[in-house]
Amino acid sequence: MPNTQSITPWWQRGVVYQIYPRSFQDSNGDGVGDLPGILARLDYLNDGTPDSLGVDALWISPFYPSPMADFGYDVADYCNVDPLFGTLADFDRLVEGAHRRGMKIIIDWVPNHTSDQHPWFIEARRSRRSPQRNWYIWADPKPDGSPPNNWGSFFGGPAWTFEPASGQYYLHQFVKEQPELNWRSPELKAAMLDTLRFWLRRGVDGFRMDVVGLLIKDAALRDNPPNPHADPRLSPNDLHGRQLAVYTEDQDEVHAIIRQIRQTLDEFDDRVGIGELWGPLPRWVRYYGEQGEELQLPFNFRLMNQPWQAQAMANCVAELEAALPPFAWPNYVLGNHDQPRLASRFGGQAQARLAVMLLLTLRGTPTLYNGDEIGLENGKIPPEQIQDPQGKNLGAERSRDVCRTPMQWDASPQAGFSQAKPWLPVSEDYTQRNVAALSKDPLSILNLYRQLLWHRRQHPALQLGSYQTLPAPTDCLAYQRTLGNQRQVITLNFSSREQRLSLPVDNGRVALSTHLDRAEPLATAGLILRPHEGVIIE
Ligand code: GLC
Repeated sequence: MPNTQSITPWWQRGVVYQIYPRSFQDSNGDGVGDLPGILARLDYLNDGTPDSLGVDALWISPFYPSPMADFGYDVADYCNVDPLFGTLADFDRLVEGAHRRGMKIIIDWVPNHTSDQHPWFIEARRSRRSPQRNWYIWADPKPDGSPPNNWGSFFGGPAWTFEPASGQYYLHQFVKEQPELNWRSPELKAAMLDTLRFWLRRGVDGFRMDVVGLLIKDAALRDNPPNPHADPRLSPNDLHGRQLAVYTEDQDEVHAIIRQIRQTLDEFDDRVGIGELWGPLPRWVRYYGEQGEELQLPFNFRLMNQPWQAQAMANCVAELEAALPPFAWPNYVLGNHDQPRLASRFGGQAQARLAVMLLLTLRGTPTLYNGDEIGLENGKIPPEQIQDPQGKNLGAERSRDVCRTPMQWDASPQAGFSQAKPWLPVSEDYTQRNVAALSKDPLSILNLYRQLLWHRRQHPALQLGSYQTLPAPTDCLAYQRTLGNQRQVITLNFSSREQRLSLPVDNGRVALSTHLDRAEPLATAGLILRPHEGVIIE
């Protein structure tokens, strides 16, 4: 077999694990997680043995100084750490500790907007003549005083807020405390690219770039057309949900900027650019660049909202594989800090187990979300305790707090997350659903994650091999991954009934079942999958 391990980049072979730092581990008893907390948990994430989780890269959501109007996605200084999360020295220790354990560090970068408390905005809003005025997006009111156009905010209401002092509106597609940057200003662009270099020099291995498809909006500020398919149940306040983002998202001009971002990463060795991108496939695939000169990994969220059906998942994968140019490497995401927990979204613990076998065996870089490995379900947050601005503005059912509840480490008070009352309540199931308890249960979901990740690491075919589907009953998905003479066959039963598969496999052996209770040779090519069972055969 060719020595593919050494020639393929780490971000193709490895598995990314997202940490939402507010909710991972509090080290100083203020109820909010922090960087020293993450440092203290590095061995849990990867100590080089199969007893740890075994991930390859950590993506840490924002820890920058911030008034926290959107929990850190409102950045007041791109080149520092909020005291709530620690110090730059803590960050350096984290990079060192991760690297020593063979893990990469990816940080969040929020280039579309700053906090309204960022010195740039404080300066820009001072007057129309401020030298930094055009670092943000300002426009005159319509003659009747109303906003310049109909653009709506993702978090409800119009995307424009009026500034009486200067008589203009500024643009914000999230909360009004998140004014949007003007990437058409060469000075702003240069300043932002320098913030990347600041962290690259500190040793970060890459960036997850927040809503990069929004960086450029129509210069003429044309109205977005109405969305004919908008869900009638949308909150009346959800102007954005009622429009098609024709003039606010995926504008052609954005690609020149993404190329410059990539060139900045390429000033350093071996760094990765990951982008948060939502558009349909033909628009999304352009973010790889014409020859791979844009992002290495435009996040692919398509599996996340599929119905729980084998065919839907298979089609989703097939469409992706067909859309990718040869140089483009696929990737898959099943959960993050903005979506309902995957165990709740897909129907329960059995589905969560099958989903992770799918995620970790498809061709492409998987991204895991902290807490999914212990099967966390949506947190129950009383309406008066909702923290998320999206939930506050658009209704409790849109609150993202449900997937941001504290990590459950053990059965001690506050689940070992904190000595204090956490910023969001710990879920009630923490006395059983926690890392310590699940570690002791050989059949737990946590041990399934560990075994899957270990098995993946031992089998380059799962990391880098080709992907071919195999014939299977309607409710099942079967595919093989091959590299050189190594072959892994994956079979997944999406139904609650037993399923019989006949597979083109001689002398196979069950290497891993989602139930963690079988490892038998396959006497014939026939295989029986129990309800919701997935099996890897080698
Ligand atoms: C992205 C983030 C989300 C944030 C928004 C605005 O979608 O994932 O958490 O609220 O951008 O920055």
